[in-house]
Amino acid sequence: MIDDLLIRNKLWSQEKTAKQADYFERLSNLQRPEYLWIGCSDSRVPANVITGLEPGEVFVHRNVANLIHSTDLNMLSVVEFAVNQLNVKHIIVCGHYGCGGIGAAVSEQDFGLLEHWLQPVRDVARISFPHVHRGGWNDEALDRLCEASIVSQVQRLANTPTLQTAWAAGKDVSIHGWVYGLKDGILTDLECTINLGKTDREPVSA
Ligand code: CO
Repeated sequence: MIDDLLIRNKLWSQEKTAKQADYFERLSNLQRPEYLWIGCSDSRVPANVITGLEPGEVFVHRNVANLIHSTDLNMLSVVEFAVNQLNVKHIIVCGHYGCGGIGAAVSEQDFGLLEHWLQPVRDVARISFPHVHRGGWNDEALDRLCEASIVSQVQRLANTPTLQTAWAAGKDVSIHGWVYGLKDGILTDLECTINLGKTDREPVSA
């Protein structure tokens, strides 16, 4: 029942203020998250919940298969705001095993508009897994494609003007690639971190 959501919301609000009377007052006056999360829209991968973060602690953008399109005004605006207004220190591109978007990208079924959206995944598949033909993707291969796509999205994000400009100005902001396991609830760092803004100019560090 849709009304249940509103009832649960009231209970949640009451619980928060019972623990800390000025919880919402403080939150409404301050947004200073250190993290930008770019994740999949999948309902099983909610950024705040799986990282144990409270409201106010992570800025979030989600889309199907957590992809970076250089023409995505929505995503680019979120990144721009996070980097230059909120001054986040870390951007996390997080994908997940068992991602329907990753599977759809290389399946033989036609997913309409999504075929265009998922093109970056097919590019990774073609370049990094040339031996796997369309329709021949098992779970193991899809997991590797999922990881490779995340690494690719980290690189694509690093190439956007917002990040390039921020780094040229010496801004210390890192882009990380993580993958989440639906079966165990564990986040794994894929160790493809990029930060070109550090003063010592370390190119890549995990
Ligand atoms: Co997904």
